Amino acid sequence: MDFEFRSGNYPEVACDLLAFPLFEGETPRLPALRALNTATRGLVASVLDSGEFKAELHRTCLLHRPTGLKAARLLLIGGGPKDEFTLATLREIAGTVVRAARATGARTAALFRRSELDIDGAAQVAVEGALYGSFDSDIYKTRDRDSRSVERFILVARERLPRNALDGALERGRAVGEATNFARTLVNEPANVLTPAQFAERARDRAADVGLEIEVLERERMEALGMNALLAVSRGSEEPPRLVILRIPGQASRGPLRAFVGKGVTFDSGGISLKPPEKMEEMKADMAGGAAVLGAMLALARLRPPERVIGLIPLVENLPSGRATKPGDVVRSLSGKTIEIINTDAEGRLILADALAYARSLGATHLVDIATLTGACMIALGMINAGMMGTDEATIERLRANVTTTGEKLWQLPLDDSYRKAIRSDIADVKNVGNRWGGAITAGKFLQEFVAGTPWVHMDIAGCDYTTDERPFASKGATGFGVRTLVELALQKTSARK
Ligand code: BES
Ligand code: MN
Ligand code: ZN
Repeated sequence: MDFEFRSGNYPEVACDLLAFPLFEGETPRLPALRALNTATRGLVASVLDSGEFKAELHRTCLLHRPTGLKAARLLLIGGGPKDEFTLATLREIAGTVVRAARATGARTAALFRRSELDIDGAAQVAVEGALYGSFDSDIYKTRDRDSRSVERFILVARERLPRNALDGALERGRAVGEATNFARTLVNEPANVLTPAQFAERARDRAADVGLEIEVLERERMEALGMNALLAVSRGSEEPPRLVILRIPGQASRGPLRAFVGKGVTFDSGGISLKPPEKMEEMKADMAGGAAVLGAMLALARLRPPERVIGLIPLVENLPSGRATKPGDVVRSLSGKTIEIINTDAEGRLILADALAYARSLGATHLVDIATLTGACMIALGMINAGMMGTDEATIERLRANVTTTGEKLWQLPLDDSYRKAIRSDIADVKNVGNRWGGAITAGKFLQEFVAGTPWVHMDIAGCDYTTDERPFASKGATGFGVRTLVELALQKTSARK
């Protein structure tokens, strides 16, 4: 998709579809709308006065051949309440415009700027949202695929801007938008296609494109290092495990080092603690945290973060077999701590335990992990907010503040030491499950055992990574949740005050 920013007025923009946002409660008598109404000889007043269109977020109304405009179609698009309009809303609106335009067969779509949001940020998120909206999940359909696409997206703003003033915003928008869609592609891939080895191969290909450094550890190396928690999960599968390590070349050799660690279970059957069949197919998405880390690192290789950042993705398939780990088995993890594996379906925390310990051995001073870790987190927060918890309060604050920009909602859960009791083992240092209560938190407490005092944040994205609901701004399936959050975080300094 090509992007263009144009200073000027919307009636002059020749395109297949021009989108004009309206906010709730706006009447055609408002100066901003009066002009549009006059240009279209009363069309807008007629739509608004009819009460058919109330400008709720993402509601649209398509008008053909609007007189007075050079555009072939006018799309009125609801922006919701004006005082709630954020960069996150604008990003979604751009997605809705692309999808609505595509449905009409439009090749060029324009979006008129009506908010007073910072223009640089607005341009960036509009690009991100347009790319996000153009993504499809039905890539394996051999028929009935809608192959239409918007080729050119024009942002129209009244303000005069120097030439190339928004080039940086465009590059950031592209880097983040493309990386998010790449993460979505991986999450959507079925587990027969995207094995741990295949994930690593795709990471290698993409890393080469953007000059990201990649190292891939294989089983023999993991055995030599003593990553027995990770290996315990992988045992039951014929597919060999991988540990992908991503570095941005040319970074400083000192100063804070952030490590992003993403759960990469390419399929989670539960292992010997086998899951029930209902919705088990969605467990192909159990590598969404890993995909988010890869996506973020790909974008960051293009955007040059101010401080050092590395990515780690432990990749395994969790299956039952004659060689699989059994409930009651005990392993010695990379950190030296022993783990009693009570439930083989609590596998994500096992591979993260070793990856977090390895990240520390690489010198990480700040740890952030992201994982589709617990059904309990979905019960607690639904599919709207991801859970966040940890010991790095400064980063947690930062993440919370970024939500209005990223649109990826995060809600902090407590991590009191009293929850630790639930994962005490009678035979080993720790066991891998607690009781029924507070399952998202006891999973977090388990991970905390392996960060050894290094400032750390854990994000549980179960439920936020994948959707079976249709959305006006995006296809069903993978959401790419976490890419924007991680990129935004890495672009800020660890020590800088807000
Ligand atoms: N990958 C699942 C968590 C999950 C469930 C993610 C549903 C997305 C949707 C994780 O490995 C798991 O199985 N967790 C168990 C933990 C339990 C055995 C303590 C769970 O949540 O049931
Ligand atoms: Mn599981
Ligand atoms: Zn899992």
